[in-house]
Amino acid sequence: MTDSRLAIIILAAGQGTRMKSETPKLLHHLAGIPIVSHVLATARELDAAYTIAVVRHERDRLVDVITDQLPDGLVVDQDDVPGTGRAVEQAMDALPLGFDGDVLVMNGDTPMLDVQTLSGLVAEHRRSKASATLLSAYLDDPSGYGRIIRHSVDEPSVDRIVEHRDATESERAIAEINAGVYMFGVAELRDLLPQLTLHNAQGEKYLTDVVELLRRAGSEVSVLPVAESWLVAGINDRAQLSEAAAKMNALIIRGWQLAGVTVHDPATTWIDLKASIEPDVTLLPGTQIRGATVIARGAVVGPDTTLVDCEVGAGATVKRTDAELSVIGAGASVGPFAYLRPNTVLGANGKIGTFVETKNAQIGEGSKVPHLSYVGDAHIGAGSNIGAATIFANYNGVVKNHTEVGSEVRTGSHNVFVAPVTIGDGAYSAAGTVVRKNVPPGSLAVNIAPQRNLEGWVAAHREGSAADRAAKAALTKAALDEQGPDNSTPAASGAENPGE
Ligand code: UD1
Ligand code: CA
Repeated sequence: MTDSRLAIIILAAGQGTRMKSETPKLLHHLAGIPIVSHVLATARELDAAYTIAVVRHERDRLVDVITDQLPDGLVVDQDDVPGTGRAVEQAMDALPLGFDGDVLVMNGDTPMLDVQTLSGLVAEHRRSKASATLLSAYLDDPSGYGRIIRHSVDEPSVDRIVEHRDATESERAIAEINAGVYMFGVAELRDLLPQLTLHNAQGEKYLTDVVELLRRAGSEVSVLPVAESWLVAGINDRAQLSEAAAKMNALIIRGWQLAGVTVHDPATTWIDLKASIEPDVTLLPGTQIRGATVIARGAVVGPDTTLVDCEVGAGATVKRTDAELSVIGAGASVGPFAYLRPNTVLGANGKIGTFVETKNAQIGEGSKVPHLSYVGDAHIGAGSNIGAATIFANYNGVVKNHTEVGSEVRTGSHNVFVAPVTIGDGAYSAAGTVVRKNVPPGSLAVNIAPQRNLEGWVAAHREGSAADRAAKAALTKAALDEQGPDNSTPAASGAENPGE
């Protein structure tokens, strides 16, 4: 139910310079979705009367994500006055003057925060009746964060927050940091924001300075330390991004393990937030389950497999495979060393085997492409077998063409199907066939030239070579064998009896 007394402000206007990236910091991914999307999802669950996101740097790219996830949210553009304080000041202008509830401010770069912690903050703020309540954490390495300065150790209230860059040596020794998540009463916040100045190391309006202003006005600011410090990890650079990603991945994997999924090696297995996995699935080491991949009961995936937005049927096995936007049927087998490009659909109990690449290929129930092949822009019926080393030649240099293979077809090794071409139900093709014409159902396609053997060619052109010596030895032996057929019975001939 909507909390009519709550407004949420999400700060997403910063440049994120420490990422050193063309991509805005908040659009870097964590568990398969942008950093800011985690924050937006949490805000959405809190269901506030107003949700306001502040943007500036790369605003269009951020606004796309924000409006997609929070269609009812408000977007505010920050002007060129820098700082979190300025961002909140401008967001407040978007809040109707009649609103007299509480304002929850969240940094957009704190994606690990969960709804439970935030609801706890809202409840604590309303219970204590302090003018502001903020989340803190105790960190082993607090560097970079703002530090919580308390009047005295036994005093529960905060005096001020000092940013790392403005802090003295002794202040920097304080392990309690400001998490960047605050509850404020709307009236006081509105009054104090215009008093912020740019007089600090970064020349920015710090939201954190509101704490000192409140205290000077005689108000209480209380602090709620979080249960575990990783909850409030802020992401400023790529090292922090990978730390947060590892932590989130560990939580996601644990969740699936408790839901009945076997994960052999959590350290080398990565599962995106949107993936969905049924019980009794086994994930082997080095496996990445990305995007909205869905894996059904009993499937075994890995080792060393990446699935992006794929669907894997019950009981299928997918080994050392890279697949994207593909469907693998129940009981089917894929890999090792297979590459499934978008729109590959493998039917139930089918096989895409070793060193096989597929693209836009629908392979019917029980059909097999076992070895060393490329299947592109093709449809294969049910129960067919494609010989080893077969190429579906789909591209004539200008356009891509389709190959149609029927059901119960057996094609020979090393075929080329020159698209567009159709091979009828129950047809065969000989090894080495280049299929340029349609093959009617039930026929055998052969187009290879008769083989000619130029006898003595090696002796004439490679005289004295190892090949020549081997050939001569074999020919001599064959001649001797022919002379003395009574030396050996047919059963004793061959390797057992070299005939020397
Ligand atoms: C901020 C806090 C710091 C706290 C830390 C927690 C301030 C001054 N400092 O520092 O006390 O320990 O978060 O993670 O608030 N942003 C804007 N507009 C701006 C600048 C930033 O919207 O002009 C947004 C950013 O996009 C980001 C968030 O505010 O999502 C925090 O900004 P950032 O520069 O990362 O602040 P920190 O230095 O981490
Ligand atoms: Ca930050």
